Amino acid sequence: MKTNEEIKSIISTLTLEEKASLCSGATFWLTKEIPSKGIPRIMVSDGPVGLRKQENIEDHLGMNESIKAVCFPAGVGMAATFNRELYGEMGETLGEECRAKDVAVILGPAVNIKRSPLCGRNFEYLSEDPYLASEMSTAYINGVQSKHVGTSIKHFAVNNMETRRFSASSNLSERALREIYLAAFEGPVKNAKPWTVMCSYNRINGELASQNKYLLTDILRKDWGYEGNVVSDWGAVSDRAKALEAGLNLEMPTSYEENDKKLVEAVKNGTLDEKVLDANCESLLKLIFDAYDNIGNSSEFVFDLDAHHDKAKEIAAETFVLLKNEGNVLPLKKDAKIAVIGSYAKVPRYQGGGSAHINCHKIVGFLDACKENGLNNISFAEGFSGTKDNFDQALCDEAVKNAKDADVAVIFAGLPDIFESEGYDRKHMNMPACQLKVIEEVRKVAKKTVIVLHNGSPIEMPFVNDVDAILECYLGGQAVGSAQFDVIFGDKSPSGRLAETFPIRLEDNPSYLNFPGFMNNVNYAEDIFVGYRYYDKKKMNVLFPFGYGLSYTEFKYDNLRLSKSEMKDTDTLEVSVDITNVGSVASKEVVQLYVKNCDTPILRPIREFKGFDKVYLKPGETKTVTFTLDKRSFAYYEERISDWAVPAGTYSIEIGKNSRCIELSKEVNITSEPVLPDHYDYDTITEELMLDPRIKDIRDKYFNMEDAFKDRELSEVEKESMNEEMAEAGFLFSPLRSALYFTGGSKKYEDIDKFLAEVNERIKK
Ligand code: BGC
Repeated sequence: MKTNEEIKSIISTLTLEEKASLCSGATFWLTKEIPSKGIPRIMVSDGPVGLRKQENIEDHLGMNESIKAVCFPAGVGMAATFNRELYGEMGETLGEECRAKDVAVILGPAVNIKRSPLCGRNFEYLSEDPYLASEMSTAYINGVQSKHVGTSIKHFAVNNMETRRFSASSNLSERALREIYLAAFEGPVKNAKPWTVMCSYNRINGELASQNKYLLTDILRKDWGYEGNVVSDWGAVSDRAKALEAGLNLEMPTSYEENDKKLVEAVKNGTLDEKVLDANCESLLKLIFDAYDNIGNSSEFVFDLDAHHDKAKEIAAETFVLLKNEGNVLPLKKDAKIAVIGSYAKVPRYQGGGSAHINCHKIVGFLDACKENGLNNISFAEGFSGTKDNFDQALCDEAVKNAKDADVAVIFAGLPDIFESEGYDRKHMNMPACQLKVIEEVRKVAKKTVIVLHNGSPIEMPFVNDVDAILECYLGGQAVGSAQFDVIFGDKSPSGRLAETFPIRLEDNPSYLNFPGFMNNVNYAEDIFVGYRYYDKKKMNVLFPFGYGLSYTEFKYDNLRLSKSEMKDTDTLEVSVDITNVGSVASKEVVQLYVKNCDTPILRPIREFKGFDKVYLKPGETKTVTFTLDKRSFAYYEERISDWAVPAGTYSIEIGKNSRCIELSKEVNITSEPVLPDHYDYDTITEELMLDPRIKDIRDKYFNMEDAFKDRELSEVEKESMNEEMAEAGFLFSPLRSALYFTGGSKKYEDIDKFLAEVNERIKK
């Protein structure tokens, strides 16, 4: 650690070339060192679900080997735990691994919103809901950084597809940007202070993220108060000097000095102020010296692969979501005759492809776990290939034969690696046809059929009504099989909940018409209506809603209390509710809070997810869960004032098991300052003037609009060509200037001008 003065004094000794050199990496994973000036280098590594530290041939796509490490469940599953503490513990474990291996910054979490189920990196991302993504990633960052290791929240921002990922422009409204896409970053940036933020490859409304001053300086630093460093995604920089000025501190990986030269040139030819470069070096050196304190100072941290494998197992069990359990077919009895089918039981699909890919020290599939636990009344048939979509009649026949002889068939199916990965998007939401065929044939003969899924994003499920149980296991990390064993045989009750809606069909998804866009443009035409916000507003049926997931027990919700029934938007509201486990096994419940703005003319979702807590309850046990809601819980982003606003009115506080299953609700009335214009002119319409309580007396003095509006009787002649509704609309939607024509000549410009002068004087800020 060095003081600001010490850092400044080092910078004063650097040549222009040396300063420019600090602004980009030395290699794929190292920053530059300048030993003669006492500047060390630090190492960054992927992330986010294990350590991908490459020691030999480097790349950013997970192609070349990295050290042996532990692969934890993918982001999609971690979000499904709805368990902040657990994600925080995973962060702590990764932080310890980084310390043990001298890694200064781990490149994650990846928090981009799941706009479309097709995005190739959805397995890495957390949710379709910004509040959930923000809360979960805050916990992860705090966990990692508690070990004095940095994180890099990514990919900032609006990077929701892989198609043309270096060039596509995500075109969206300011409201959607703030309310949905940036909100996933805002909470963690403000509350967990990630050491670095990784800017994305794409453009936002035309400007590359890496050189987007609005994003990197105006919003990130000025609005949110961020004081750390912005790192480019690997190869995201186009114009280095412009990027520096926009707020991008470190270009990664190395450009082999090419972009350093550009910075030197820019200073020399006067297009870049050297002070900007100095300030950038100061910020980077703070990071480098701070992180360098770890090096050679981490003897208490050991990377215990086996202990961390056990941690990965414990975590994985909480990522599973029980989607269906007809007749309580799950959990299975250990002495049942079980036909295990599907290649993922043997070689599980447990992680996604690309930069997040971990070189696991061991992998446990379900069959391994059965063997470890001495289960011998099971048969196994591969059923289908886990890597390709080729139907094989012999494999299918064997599966059918085994299923006939068993009490229950458990089919391990899902998406092969090649169906979803970094770098490209899916084209459809289907499972491989060969798997569907085997499921179809097996379920026809099996007494009971259980489907266990390995996939990183939603799929269509043509078999949903024909099978008895479905357990969504996502990409559960290297210990997935052991965790499946615990859940399938009831040692643990499933407690994951969907962090994203499963639509019935791809075409139902709100981004369907605009994904992946055309050439370099993708229009976010669905605006703020992403995920459940859209399906609820359109009253559409979905396959499984946001927040959904079953358990081996039942919970009862009682006694919802609000600390107030009337409040100002700046007050906070305490919400409490009692939850009881009324079933016969211990389990965790995810208590979910949604806020509904009941009566507002503002276009808003039906309900929005604003609170959650996960509680462990033994049979018969009751616990009280308490939430605190603040202004932001009720607010929307109001473009007219470039700020958050809460419309006055009635709000319903809903407590539920998922977004489509609200158990209890209570109302609160909120008062707030209305959002009103600060200027009127000839083109202002009557409606706007009438909605402004500040100018009522002036309005009455000049126009008596209320009376004109309420008591106006149509003349006989008027009645022939219009009705009252038409007259009312004509009046409300007319601009002020139309008083010249429609008051029988009684109002002149002079009157309108006087009126405008008086109202504008009254309302000016
Ligand atoms: C990915 C990042 C990753 C980086 C380094 C990029 O291609 O988008 O998520 O951290 O490579 O591997």
